[in-house]
Amino acid sequence: METKKTILITGGAGFIGSNFVKYMLERYSEFRIIVLDKLAYAGRLENLEDVISQITFIKGDVCNKEDIEKIGSCDIIFNFAAETHVDKSISDPGLFLKTDIFGTYSLLEYAKKQKVEKFIQISTDEVYGSIKEGSFREGDGLEPSSPYSASKASADLLVGAYHKTYNLPVLITRSSNNFGPYQYPEKLIPLFITNALEDKPLPVYGDGLNVRDWLYVLDNCSAIDLVFQKGKFGEIYNIGTGLEKTNLEITELILKKLEKPQTLIQFVDDRLGHDRRYSLEFSKIKELGWKPTYDFEKAIGDTINWYKNNKQWWKSL
Ligand SMILES: NC(=O)c1ccc[n+]([C@@H]2O[C@H](COP(=O)([O-])OP(=O)(O)OC[C@H]3O[C@@H](n4cnc5c(N)ncnc54)[C@H](O)[C@@H]3O)[C@@H](O)[C@H]2O)c1
Repeated sequence: METKKTILITGGAGFIGSNFVKYMLERYSEFRIIVLDKLAYAGRLENLEDVISQITFIKGDVCNKEDIEKIGSCDIIFNFAAETHVDKSISDPGLFLKTDIFGTYSLLEYAKKQKVEKFIQISTDEVYGSIKEGSFREGDGLEPSSPYSASKASADLLVGAYHKTYNLPVLITRSSNNFGPYQYPEKLIPLFITNALEDKPLPVYGDGLNVRDWLYVLDNCSAIDLVFQKGKFGEIYNIGTGLEKTNLEITELILKKLEKPQTLIQFVDDRLGHDRRYSLEFSKIKELGWKPTYDFEKAIGDTINWYKNNKQWWKSL
């Protein structure tokens, strides 16, 4: 009898991680999936409620060797586990250094011992920093602005070093801003949807003209899956859509779709070190055969409906 390969998904109870767990379960039957998640505030077991019987869930910290040992053996690792909120990284940088850097190091050591087939590091476009014109390519230098993006950039460098030094079969994805169901309402889109639903003000940083490239979470899942299937070891893959919108445009769109007054917009003091524009060149992943398939307007409409229909999920937060 053929034994199933084991996939470890760290941070699988969070926003992208839980979407990815479900994405993989729908597409593959040949893997056994283990989720390791600390259940920090953004990680919630209820995000995996409907699939919990199909996976092995371990409540544990990627920084803790004993927790990692509970995993046993494993063949493939997707590392989503991270502290992810930029504002929180400004008030508490140490936690980000610990989870995002030391946590990645602990997993790399485990991967090395296990002689895993693949180690996929989930990174972010924020590691490149801000760009006025044009778009960042994978080989461009790293100029992170926040303790969050600096921690993620450090983790990327470590992952690259484990490839060069130990020949660990690593792959790195750097995606733009995700949106979709199960995103903790501290990030712009879910915060503004839930505030608007409760007729609360929508706090827009600075002049609201910061530009982000927006990616529906399931498009990111298909891109990560493709990198897992076809990516070349040691390589980095940008994942974006080219759909660049200012925060103000997103805010106005949410209010329009929810038929709420634009007067709910409240401009507040800008975030410290706030990057003006993120932009990715993503021809490398297109060459692997990926393109975003979700229409932005429809995906944002579906996301709004999800928050409308799942008030019990966010009301208590
Ligand atoms: N959300 C985005 O727009 C975006 C964009 C690009 C890259 N990313 C990256 O994708 C990954 C997932 O992001 P997300 O938006 O789903 O974040 P999230 O905050 O929703 O989820 C992070 C998950 O990691 C878990 N976690 C935190 N610390 C841990 C620890 N020490 N040990 C084990 N688990 C721990 C949390 O409990 C949570 O389930 C992150 O690595 C992030 O940097 C996110």
